[in-house]
Amino acid sequence: MSANDVELRKSASEEVKKHKSKVESDPYRLTYHHMPPVGLMNDPNGWIQWKGTYHLFYQWMPFNTDHGAKFWGHLSSSDLIHWKEEDAALTPSDWFDRDGVFSGSAVVHNDQLYLFYTGNIDGENGAEEEYQCAAVSNDAVTFEKKGVVIERPEGYTANFRDPKVWREDDYWYLVVGAQSVDMQGKVVLFRSHDLTNWEYLGPIAGSLEGEMGVFGYMWECPDVFKINNKDILVVSPQGVEAEGMHYANTYQSGYFAGKLDVNTPTFSHDGFKELDRGFEFYAPQTMEDEKGRRLLIGWMGVPDQYEQAHPTIENHWIHCMTIPRELSWNGEQIIQTPVEELKEMRGPVLLHSSITIENDQNAIRGIQGRAIELNIEFEELEDQFAIEFFQYASLSYKKGILTLSRPHFEDKSKTEFRRAEINQGLHRLHIFIDHSTLEIFVNGGEEVFTSRIFPQHEAEDILFTSLGKTSFSIEQWKLNGYTYENKFLSSS
Ligand code: FRU
Repeated sequence: MSANDVELRKSASEEVKKHKSKVESDPYRLTYHHMPPVGLMNDPNGWIQWKGTYHLFYQWMPFNTDHGAKFWGHLSSSDLIHWKEEDAALTPSDWFDRDGVFSGSAVVHNDQLYLFYTGNIDGENGAEEEYQCAAVSNDAVTFEKKGVVIERPEGYTANFRDPKVWREDDYWYLVVGAQSVDMQGKVVLFRSHDLTNWEYLGPIAGSLEGEMGVFGYMWECPDVFKINNKDILVVSPQGVEAEGMHYANTYQSGYFAGKLDVNTPTFSHDGFKELDRGFEFYAPQTMEDEKGRRLLIGWMGVPDQYEQAHPTIENHWIHCMTIPRELSWNGEQIIQTPVEELKEMRGPVLLHSSITIENDQNAIRGIQGRAIELNIEFEELEDQFAIEFFQYASLSYKKGILTLSRPHFEDKSKTEFRRAEINQGLHRLHIFIDHSTLEIFVNGGEEVFTSRIFPQHEAEDILFTSLGKTSFSIEQWKLNGYTYENKFLSSS
């Protein structure tokens, strides 16, 4: 470990200690979502299961609540509920990553864990160079950096990052998010026999690539995998204009489904579909676990989307991850469901009943609580239906459109909306609430709305409104939350 690495780790753990009591006193802290111990958390990285243990690394800025020279934080778990906070895996200690160990992925090869990440070097106006780098570990605790393995090919700007690696037939493949010199977002493909020497194959998708029109100036965090014989490219494009109820956030996250031919390379694909319809969701990453499930975790945040207006900043932390979701394919689209392990968190059922409301503006049915799960199944929905959460956010359904609204983070006199068309009518809402988060799975995961919420702390009630008659069954559980063994703090 270099002296610089030792120094950075020491400063980070001092920062954690210095702000620990303030951070932990924040009533907006969460019970079953990963948060930074101090500072800023963004993208999930290196999401993998190895020898039974799940590893989730993450972009971490310990020294303030803004973006900058990121570390890779590290969490591990054998069951996705009981977690251990490990020592940071990587720090920005070398010439090739001095301004940030940026996002990337993990694979297992010859009984070692390989991390691939972007080493970021800043210039006066953002990235001056971005290298794709590797690090290797025998024990998933300490990581040895191997330095730069891919340098940027001609034709791309220094915005060239977020390697995702996978194995197919006789090769390793790696995709990188890129920007062409004519300022179009792209995803480019490399391959390798040995994870060290990489051959550049070319772009597989992007703005103005193939049949795609203009679609953003930079594509971040690509991820390629198969689901039911479909090739999926998940990606987070920047610079896409809002269009009707689509692309409402500052930057987007979604996927293309199609057929990838790695040899040409070409990816013939359908249109872009957003993975989430809420206010905060970005840079998701997936992996296949040892049960063969494709599991996704996203960052519950969006870069440059009024991040500095989050009230948690005064307590020295910002952002969190989503709950893990299992992906499947229903013949037409990706379906996302909360992983079944989350049921382990359930305390006793607080409520299980059938409710009918008719032309009622404010039906309170004793539904309260800040770390809860609700399962609502509709029997009849005649006209309009809405749920109001803690006098703050509301979810309403009218004529096939579901709308989530909340006060604007910067100008609280304004209300903001995010909407989605629910083509086959509303049948089910599966809702996870955790103090300052809201995740709503619609009709068994056809759409998801993920958002931060910052209601007054004393506001407790969840209200139901119906125009015409609405009948539904509702189940409610109190959730006990994840547990954390805090190795990172105890070892430093
Ligand atoms: C996405 C992103 C990545 C980058 C990382 C830096 O949120 O901008 O492209 O690697 O965050 O923290």
